[in-house]
Amino acid sequence: MSADTLALWRNAHVATCDAHDTRIANAALVTRGDRIEWVGREAELPEGLRVQARAVWDLGGAWVTPGLIDCHTHLVFAGTRAAEYAQRLRGLSYEAIARSGGGILTTVRATRAASEQQLFDASAPRLAALLAEGVTTVEVKSGYGLTLEDEAKMLRVARELAAVFPVRIRTTLLAAHTVPPEFSGRADEYIDTIAQVWLPQLHAAGLVDAVDVFCERIGFDTTQSERLLRAARTLGLPVKMHAEQLSNIGATRLAARYGALSCDHLEYASAEEARALKDSGGVAVLLPVAFYCLGETHRPPVAELRAAGTAMAVASDCNPGSAPGTSLLLALNMSTRLFGLTAEEGLAAVTAQAARALGLQGVVGVLAPGQCADFVIWEVAGVEELSYWVGHNRCRAVVRGGSLVRGSP
Ligand code: NIG
Ligand code: FE
Repeated sequence: MSADTLALWRNAHVATCDAHDTRIANAALVTRGDRIEWVGREAELPEGLRVQARAVWDLGGAWVTPGLIDCHTHLVFAGTRAAEYAQRLRGLSYEAIARSGGGILTTVRATRAASEQQLFDASAPRLAALLAEGVTTVEVKSGYGLTLEDEAKMLRVARELAAVFPVRIRTTLLAAHTVPPEFSGRADEYIDTIAQVWLPQLHAAGLVDAVDVFCERIGFDTTQSERLLRAARTLGLPVKMHAEQLSNIGATRLAARYGALSCDHLEYASAEEARALKDSGGVAVLLPVAFYCLGETHRPPVAELRAAGTAMAVASDCNPGSAPGTSLLLALNMSTRLFGLTAEEGLAAVTAQAARALGLQGVVGVLAPGQCADFVIWEVAGVEELSYWVGHNRCRAVVRGGSLVRGSP
């Protein structure tokens, strides 16, 4: 489609997901190329736009939302951890498995052994499953390679997926996921190698959009984490943090000082972390599938986050260990019942707030003039249905960059 071709998408109801959670009944959208030109009540559509539209789509009274954004995934990996899940069902803990050399390192072994093509082929169906639910933007982390070559391989696969599928992918370097066997007992040296050698090279190769650290008693401590955050910020890269998932060691307060885009998990965070994130402008990314699959009972401080006015996003955390799932809609449903998000907070959490968690506010996540024309046409009577159904996908059609990429309106 040419860059300035107008298309009219009419006879719809629109949840814009802007700051006022605006809902527009009997609405229309006009796209110009890959951007939104106009959105509003159809009765108020400017005549000039109506006559210029080269294509007119009748959405039959369907609800339209921004394309969904999965702002935290580890979807590029090889193998599974089904055997470890079976062990956990028998009572072994995630931490105990990790400490005995399994967990993340099990997936590191499988991912290192996979060729780039095998890794792509293993990851593509997971991405396809996310996209079938109306996801149009996905964050993908590395962190199962843990050598320069294998981290690069993972990040290249993420870029290749973005070239093949109708999706925007943001890559995050998570080499600081765990200490690899080559650096056993030398975590400090490992962090310095990432900070001084790998990160600059991977960044120069155009493979890194952000940097993340697993700051945890089975991950990296705050001193180690800080060295990597500083290196990332020196290169101008935004940072994120796996924070307060299994314990509270001050990860969020540290990340906030480095202006982190988001702190993710947060089960063991408190009002103090909620305020630190609010003050730094960071987003609290909640990952209910990991909470559920790990049999966690300690919930993230949603009431405190709400009271502080901290932005909350929800993501799938798709990964082979703590969250072997490919459904953002299921994560959304879980965030309401398990964590207490309202339907309205939930919808914002997988659209506008998820965009902020990726630094993409103003680009995607809201249906407003100038934003990318990424939107979903839903087979629902109201958008509350998005967080209501449990494992039932009501996505009818998806428009990505102004083009219909799935279904038919
Ligand atoms: O988000 N906590 C660290 N990272 C992942 C799990 C990784 C794994 O178990 O493979 C998470 O839960
Ligand atoms: Fe994660």
